[in-house]
Amino acid sequence: MIGVFDSGHGGLTVLRALAARMPARGFVYLGDHANAPYGERDAEDVYNLTLENIERLFRLDCRLVILACNTAAAIALRRLQRTWLADAWPGRRVLGVLVPVVEAIVRQPWHVEEPHTGEGAPSETVAVFATRRTVESRAYVGEILKRAPDVLIIQQACPGLVDAIEAGAPADELDGLVNGFVGELLAGMQGVLPDVAVLGCTHYGLAPKAFRDALPPGAALLHQPDLVAASLADYLARHPEFPADPKEPGRLEFLTTGDPSHVARVASRFYGAAAAFRAFR
Ligand code: DGL
Repeated sequence: MIGVFDSGHGGLTVLRALAARMPARGFVYLGDHANAPYGERDAEDVYNLTLENIERLFRLDCRLVILACNTAAAIALRRLQRTWLADAWPGRRVLGVLVPVVEAIVRQPWHVEEPHTGEGAPSETVAVFATRRTVESRAYVGEILKRAPDVLIIQQACPGLVDAIEAGAPADELDGLVNGFVGELLAGMQGVLPDVAVLGCTHYGLAPKAFRDALPPGAALLHQPDLVAASLADYLARHPEFPADPKEPGRLEFLTTGDPSHVARVASRFYGAAAAFRAFR
């Protein structure tokens, strides 16, 4: 089974794309609803919570874990890969959701770190909408500019949007919030318009229409869940050490650190189908 982790419900949008793309694979979803949202938490707190939840999935025998949370990936992934993973859990892997988005923007594979410059190099203006903590980490900015220095990146934090989405706020409330954030971003761009918009928080995928309507018509909206699914399929094809379990193709489990009955009620909006959540023990 492949572990999929998010602070709450947002990662279900990623799980949905993963399960659709890789129907033979089994996935265990873990939402840390008891501690969500992460986006306004202290970075050290996000790191510790992320580590704790990855270990929970490792103990359930997931040898590969996807951090389906931009905040957790932006804050914790590099650090845990450099300082913890190989010693604490040799042979286990943790992948995030930023890399596939960065690859799509810079138009070259992640492992190519030489700057993509010259003829045909990316030079778009990219708007990144994310939680406050992801914005502050500058993970998107750093990774994109290292590889595509001609790209212009503008970030916009959207405080409160995750709570509104988790709470099932009505469309007009989400439209109002998103309009405000897009307006703030555009006001700071002094007439430059974004060519590409990244919803750099897995929750925001639940409000694509609000972003679509608020953004200038020329801005292409990247679909992070599909990019992550394509990237994972490619990774698994290159890593036979993570085979699918032929005995249980397509098995899905949904675990939460929160209240399963409440979580299950909200989850179908994110997952697009009923998700039978159980309490993590
Ligand atoms: N869904 C998470 C992300 O992708 C953040 C939600 C939260 O603030 O917990 O950033």
